[in-house]
Amino acid sequence: MTHAPQHPLQVVAHRGASEDAPEHTLAAYKKAIEDGADALECDVRLTADGHLVCVHDRRVNRTSNGRGAVSALELAELATLDFGSWKTREAWRGRDEEPDWEHRPEDREETSVLTLERLLELVADAGRRVELAIETKHPTRWAGQVEERLLLLLKRFGLDSPASAAASPVRIMSFSARSLHRVCAAAPTMPTVYLMQFVSPRLRDGRLPAGVRIAGPSIRIVRNHPAYVERLKRAGHQVHVWTVNEPEDVDLCVELGVDALITNRPRAVLRQLGR
Ligand code: G3P
Ligand code: CA
Repeated sequence: MTHAPQHPLQVVAHRGASEDAPEHTLAAYKKAIEDGADALECDVRLTADGHLVCVHDRRVNRTSNGRGAVSALELAELATLDFGSWKTREAWRGRDEEPDWEHRPEDREETSVLTLERLLELVADAGRRVELAIETKHPTRWAGQVEERLLLLLKRFGLDSPASAAASPVRIMSFSARSLHRVCAAAPTMPTVYLMQFVSPRLRDGRLPAGVRIAGPSIRIVRNHPAYVERLKRAGHQVHVWTVNEPEDVDLCVELGVDALITNRPRAVLRQLGR
């Protein structure tokens, strides 16, 4: 059975247009906006001196020329690192054509560590509505500080207490129900997304943690248990699926009426959807 979503299917750029450009850099987010993405996904972590930066891994080793945990490095130290070159090397490997995006050393800001503040500025200047799906990473380590600083930063942009969840251009996502509870307690109208790698037995009936209205199952859950999506929708929840890169998975999400899909390839997905 197909459940029509209440809104058009939203295409969310996962870590920016991260198939083409280095994930979580200004270059990747600018490209996602140019590509027409409806929303941008980012992971946030706290630096040793308390800044929120957009980095997926606990360490910077994979995506930069540096080493060490984000939580052990200050922002000034992170700012000396190059978060772009690794992707250029990867993009050129085994390809006949030129990649769409190439790291140019003169565009230093484009491939530096990206603060959440800078990303919020980019979105504010986009010239059209671009939503932001912010994932709190490792929130347990900081005992509430990630959420506290995140909401303080959003407040500076007038985004911390939307009139309603539906009106909010920002939503906060996490695999940690505790992190989402903190957000719900401090900002009751902020939409929250419970990310799932598997479905815990107590949530199989379509329930979500208290206060959470949006489910974020992996595409693997959706492929293996399409009936679970129907259950979530019947329970009145939105469904945002990650990470949807294959055309047949895009078709499956359309068929099941999911509300948002999170993809590394926003341009290709938008084209497939006829947009
Ligand atoms: O959008 C949710 C998805 O990003 C969760 O997985 O590991 O890419 O942060 P991960
Ligand atoms: Ca993420």
